[in-house]
Amino acid sequence: MAVGEHRKIIAVAGPAALAKTAADRILARMGANAGRIAICLAGGSSPKHLYALLATETYRGRIPWDRTHWFIGDERFVAASHPLNNMAMARGIFLDRFAPASHIHPIPTDTGEPEESAERYRRELNLFYGAERLDPGRPLFDVVLMGVGPDGHTASIFPDSPALAETERWVVGVREAPVAPLVPRVTLTLPALASCREMLFEVAGPDKRAILTRVIDGENLPAARAHSIGETIWLVDAAALPENFRG
Ligand code: 6PG
Repeated sequence: MAVGEHRKIIAVAGPAALAKTAADRILARMGANAGRIAICLAGGSSPKHLYALLATETYRGRIPWDRTHWFIGDERFVAASHPLNNMAMARGIFLDRFAPASHIHPIPTDTGEPEESAERYRRELNLFYGAERLDPGRPLFDVVLMGVGPDGHTASIFPDSPALAETERWVVGVREAPVAPLVPRVTLTLPALASCREMLFEVAGPDKRAILTRVIDGENLPAARAHSIGETIWLVDAAALPENFRG
């Protein structure tokens, strides 16, 4: 384990241990909140193992489904049922079977423009939170899940994109994604994602080692800048861990 300026890196043996550690941390956060719980999910392939684990008897029985709301940190601008749709992936693996439909909050993509979707999601988040301004004493989310892309993007905040500089808006449209899938995106911004008790990155596999090294080295990348107002945890499996971090 190593401690960065605002991130704690937790090394785990492999993808199964990574999913289990993430699931246990989410359950712990749920256990610490006796009221309404908000979880912001991530897209991409990294969280699939975790979502499948949450659907197993061991975990699903411990999730307070009637008090938990599910959001998504970014979305590809494709139909809700499209195989590339991030929320469709989470719904297919676990949400549709266990979460009340009214507790699933997808980013709408049935609009003409990503900006229009962003505006609709902003309104939905404002309504859920009960305010248009984030109060550091009252985080929007209990847990925000995150992944990191090969260029250092996280959610759909790409290096050099205007979304990276956003300090006020909660959600923005992204006209072009520089990495696959090459579809427009809608993404929560760094301040909205930061409004959580715990931000949890999942990083697995040798393909992530190079970008993780750059993040740890302090490069000015979206994933390196993303942090929670509470805890920021990077769960990293052995294959993704840079040489000098191995024990
Ligand atoms: C997306 C994501 C994106 C993802 C990273 C990592 O819509 O693609 O939200 O930010 O988390 O690109 O993706 P992998 O988990 O597939 O490596």
